[in-house]
Amino acid sequence: MKKLIAAVLVLTSLIAATVAFTQSFNVQLGDTKGPVQPINYSHKIHAGKLKMKCLYCHYGAAKSQWANIPAVSTCMGCHKIAMTDKPEIIKLTGYYDRGEQPKWVKVHYLPDHVKFNHKRHVQAGYQCQECHGPIQEMDRVYQYNSLKMGWCISCHRKNLDNPTHPATMDCLACHH
Ligand code: HEC
Ligand code: HEC
Ligand code: HEC
Ligand code: HEC
Ligand code: HEC
Repeated sequence: MKKLIAAVLVLTSLIAATVAFTQSFNVQLGDTKGPVQPINYSHKIHAGKLKMKCLYCHYGAAKSQWANIPAVSTCMGCHKIAMTDKPEIIKLTGYYDRGEQPKWVKVHYLPDHVKFNHKRHVQAGYQCQECHGPIQEMDRVYQYNSLKMGWCISCHRKNLDNPTHPATMDCLACHH
């Protein structure tokens, strides 16, 4: 009887742990405002209303490990003529004229012991929104998914037998 109780206890705690583990995937983080940025740039205007392609600005995401943040010169392609009387655009033009880049506040980051590669995921056919959420609806970008190991693993596990883009569970694929 004692053994049975012990077994049941072990089993229930295992189930509880599994449920907690599974629920930690895709947690939506509380902070839906995102940090205040040096220029009040909005993805909701540019990627939403104006329907600009993400890769127009973040071209690095398809070609390299990193998704770049665009230089002010990318903005000036339009803002030399568009909305030039608005205070935020006057500020933007100031950076451009001084040859400076705004110090954008970083939203996403992984610890140094983790390797992540945009190109591999984007070329495997994932939309940016799969990981970053509905960016085109955000005035200020916030982190949508947890970026925890459990979150990465849950998708890798589903893709172990992916015929064209098999994912891996190898610790050293993701860790230095
Ligand atoms: C006109 C250029 C432009 C376009 C188009 C654009 N972005 Fe951005 N993106 C920026 C700038 C500038 C920043 C830095 C300021 C900020 O976070 O809002 C940024 C920041 C981000 C960040 C946060 C980076 C960090 O610090 O972690 C993500 C994620 C992102 N963009 C994804 C997207 C996605 C997805 C799309 C398409 C739906 C997109 N962007 C379209 C210019 C652009
Ligand atoms: C393809 C053209 C284009 C590019 C590139 C572009 N913008 Fe814009 N932007 C616009 C247009 C058009 C509007 C006005 C949209 C509206 O309000 O309907 C706008 C609006 C804005 C506004 C709001 C202005 C206000 O006060 O109403 C800011 C700030 C801004 N853009 C910053 C940026 C920054 C920073 C970048 C580069 C990362 C950038 N834009 C790149 C076309 C562009
Ligand atoms: C498989 C998930 C995934 C996909 C798909 C994805 N990203 Fe990311 N993105 C991340 C992670 C994780 C980070 C944090 C990386 C780090 O800190 O090393 C990140 C960071 C960023 C950053 C900050 C700069 C950087 O490289 O760290 C930008 C900008 C960005 N992503 C834009 C995009 C855009 C645009 C797309 C689509 C073309 C995209 N991402 C697709 C997971 C993803
Ligand atoms: C939405 C699904 C998905 C998510 C989320 C995801 N991955 Fe992946 N990842 C894949 C797939 C599928 C591949 C295989 C791509 C290929 O073979 O081109 C891959 C490949 C990789 C590779 C290349 C492995 C190699 O063989 O060299 C690394 C590294 C990696 N992912 C790290 C991460 C990390 C770290 C995270 C979390 C921050 C993450 N991934 C989140 C689906 C995902
Ligand atoms: C698909 C990518 C991926 C794979 C595969 C992976 N990890 Fe991770 N791991 C991460 C990410 C992302 C983090 C950072 C976020 C976090 O702490 O959850 C992390 C964090 C960790 C941490 C926590 C470090 C700390 O600072 O707390 C340990 C320990 C760890 N991993 C060990 C492993 C081991 C052992 C394996 C192989 C059985 C493994 N990982 C496989 C992505 C991965």
